[in-house]
Amino acid sequence: MAKIVVLGAGAFGLALANTCIDAGHDVTVWSAFAPELEELCTKHESSKLPGVKISEQICLSDDLHCLDDADVAIIGIPSSFVRSVAKQISPYLREKTVLVDTSKGIEAETFKRMSEVIGEECPHNPVVALTGPSHAEELSLGIPTTVAVACEDVQYAEYIQDIFTTSTFRLYVNTDVIGCELGGAMKNVIALACGISDGLGYGDNTKAALMTRGIHEITQLGLAMGAELDTFSGLTGIGDLIVTCTSVHSRNRRAGMLIGQGVSPEEAVRQVGTVEGYFCCRVAAELAKKMGACMPITAELYRILFEQGDVRESLHKLMGRPNRHECEHYTTLDELSGHHSAAGGDD
Ligand SMILES: NC(=O)c1ccc[n+]([C@@H]2O[C@H](COP(=O)([O-])OP(=O)(O)OC[C@H]3O[C@@H](n4cnc5c(N)ncnc54)[C@H](O)[C@@H]3O)[C@@H](O)[C@H]2O)c1
Repeated sequence: MAKIVVLGAGAFGLALANTCIDAGHDVTVWSAFAPELEELCTKHESSKLPGVKISEQICLSDDLHCLDDADVAIIGIPSSFVRSVAKQISPYLREKTVLVDTSKGIEAETFKRMSEVIGEECPHNPVVALTGPSHAEELSLGIPTTVAVACEDVQYAEYIQDIFTTSTFRLYVNTDVIGCELGGAMKNVIALACGISDGLGYGDNTKAALMTRGIHEITQLGLAMGAELDTFSGLTGIGDLIVTCTSVHSRNRRAGMLIGQGVSPEEAVRQVGTVEGYFCCRVAAELAKKMGACMPITAELYRILFEQGDVRESLHKLMGRPNRHECEHYTTLDELSGHHSAAGGDD
């Protein structure tokens, strides 16, 4: 039995807390917000995960000393707050505690992935990224779910694989941390674009086009950043993209649908809540420029979200790009810089 602390009492943290109880562990959920703990304590339910019974075996805490003897700490906090929470927990961690990051995003100012951010703030602890197609709403109901656990030091990923596995939760080890984290963050951007297409009333053809050309441009960025090609056809690439772009549970897709129906991007984000693709799009567009990666969908979404771009015009612009071959992969930075001049530019 491992001692596991889940940081954050949100939808995914609670789903993993329930899963870890099923796997036979001692689980504590920590939250900085008293009302969240109160709701869990009195009702064993959470408004963040409606209709799901939160196990009564889970301990609740607002005190970071709950990390004192933890074997594993799961970070279930939205990406914009990961650095501040990692900084806060660092003094409470013992060296052998394995940190499991579930947040999907890229830090705005630094372009760092979440495991890099956590690694900077908690330099003595191993960090494993847990990512893949895993809606909290389904995982918490025991619906069969698969994810990848990524760490360069494979022993930590294998440890998490061993202790988190249940009859309905299957984990695959991957050592390509860059590819896994990038896929998890970038699929939110493409899900927003798919939501916009749905909101406009376009059909499955358009959505399939956005998804497949979307994974292509995520792959271009990933290769430029040093990720491995195969990762993007796996759980954290196309797997997470499928689940996010097609599901009713996806907040990114829901926000996109509102935008497609004429709601302003800021209002759509306000209505839906955590919409990580909104923030990630800005970072991704800048990152694409920096790396010289061609990311036309991201570039058009950026115009819609941050430059009052017209949604129909953007889709027509994507359709009107110069003709090209489908399978063009750039496997080295030299090739990339030879083919692309600016983010989102036609090549
Ligand atoms: N919801 C899912 O299905 C799902 C699936 C896989 C991964 N994720 C990832 O997990 C992360 C969390 O998502 P979620 O859906 O659980 O979010 P959520 O909005 O439901 O909850 C996040 C929780 O984080 C905590 N939190 C928020 N701001 C904080 C702060 N400033 N300081 C301390 N704690 C704070 C709160 O306890 C809050 O309940 C995201 O990065 C998301 O991409 C979510």
